[in-house]
Amino acid sequence: MDINIILATASLLLFVALLAYFGFVAYHQQQIEPDEKPATGVELLRQHYGPGDTVEQPTPYWVAPIPAAPDPLEISGNLDRKIVAGGVMLFALFGLVGGYLLLEIIPSGPLSLRAAAADKQMETSIQRGKNLFANFCYPCHGKLGLGNGENDVNGKPLPGKPLNVAANKYDTLKEDPSALKTREDFLRLTITRGKANPAPSYSMPAWGASEGGPFNPEQVDQLVTFVMRGTEQDWADIVNIRTHLDGVDNADVVPPPPPLKPTGAEAAQVYCTTCHSFDAGKPSTVPTAPNLGHYGTEGPINDQNKAAKASDADWLFHWVSDAPKVKPGIIMPVWLDKDGGSLDEATIRSIVEYLQSLK
Ligand code: HEC
Ligand code: HEC
Repeated sequence: MDINIILATASLLLFVALLAYFGFVAYHQQQIEPDEKPATGVELLRQHYGPGDTVEQPTPYWVAPIPAAPDPLEISGNLDRKIVAGGVMLFALFGLVGGYLLLEIIPSGPLSLRAAAADKQMETSIQRGKNLFANFCYPCHGKLGLGNGENDVNGKPLPGKPLNVAANKYDTLKEDPSALKTREDFLRLTITRGKANPAPSYSMPAWGASEGGPFNPEQVDQLVTFVMRGTEQDWADIVNIRTHLDGVDNADVVPPPPPLKPTGAEAAQVYCTTCHSFDAGKPSTVPTAPNLGHYGTEGPINDQNKAAKASDADWLFHWVSDAPKVKPGIIMPVWLDKDGGSLDEATIRSIVEYLQSLK
């Protein structure tokens, strides 16, 4: 049973016992101190002499009636013990409260309330992360969380990377706190920000609210906790949650369609319009970057480049791939991935084709 409940019940019982005990002591005390007032003066005389008697000698002292048992002396002796017993109970109550506070403070161990609360929180976190995974990550990372290590409904490897692997697990990393932290940060960051890959490769979407995604930081943490600390049983639950969601017996994994490769025109819009205009009637954003609206008929634009083109049949591809290599000092960036840019050769070829189509 929860140690909190045991302590609270014990405190409550002791408190009730304490109240009852003091009630009893007060009541008992009343009983052994009779209300009867000692007779004095005329009353005393009347007790001893009838009317008309001659008082020969006054009673020298008054003798109290023999008290009814129990003897008040004995009882007032007991009172000490009762006070001591009451005190003990009171201090036991303080002791319990103190004990509770102490258990709250102990950071770890089987008795630590704090550790117990943290465990509980962790469990809740794993449960929530598991549900988020089944809802949002399943189509790309799969039933078992093995990503491209398992196949989709058509027998093709899934797009996601394996997550349910030793390299991500708290148990493998706990001996090395810095590796543990590095991995945890990596997972949190990747889930928050995603990882873009050039189409038609799949990208890992950005899920964090800070990146326009649907999840707040707490939900991202729940996913990280599930990935790092979920048990095999938790992973096995994924398919149950999913079949429940889909209302089917064995939910097949159907990844979303791969992103379409952008056309040359689309890629040029995305990558080149920060500087160039492709609209003959509209000036370029950066004045030194020529308007490429009629490039198919008018390019190359300056004489130096015309001359270079004369000796290089593939000049335009080389220019767009790595303009600084052709003309050192130019602000136009390197685009070819092999030279340190962000576009693959096929994308650059499609952009070149688009440029040549601009009449
Ligand atoms: C549209 C498919 C898709 C969905 C949906 C998706 N992912 Fe991914 N995820 C990927 C791809 C693709 C990668 C590999 C990215 C790369 O490194 O190029 C990846 C990589 C990751 C990584 C990095 C793994 C590593 O070792 O590099 C983590 C962590 C991750 N995903 C978690 C999640 C979580 C959590 C969800 C659900 C909230 C999710 N993903 C949903 C496609 C997806
Ligand atoms: C940071 C700004 C910038 C970006 C981004 C940029 N360019 Fe340029 N580009 C320039 C400048 C500046 C020039 C003029 C170079 C010169 O001095 O001749 C130029 C020149 C050109 C020329 C004309 C060469 C000639 O003389 O015939 C072409 C074609 C061209 N860029 C294509 C592209 C394409 C395609 C992209 C996108 C993949 C791109 N540029 C992105 C700045 C940029």
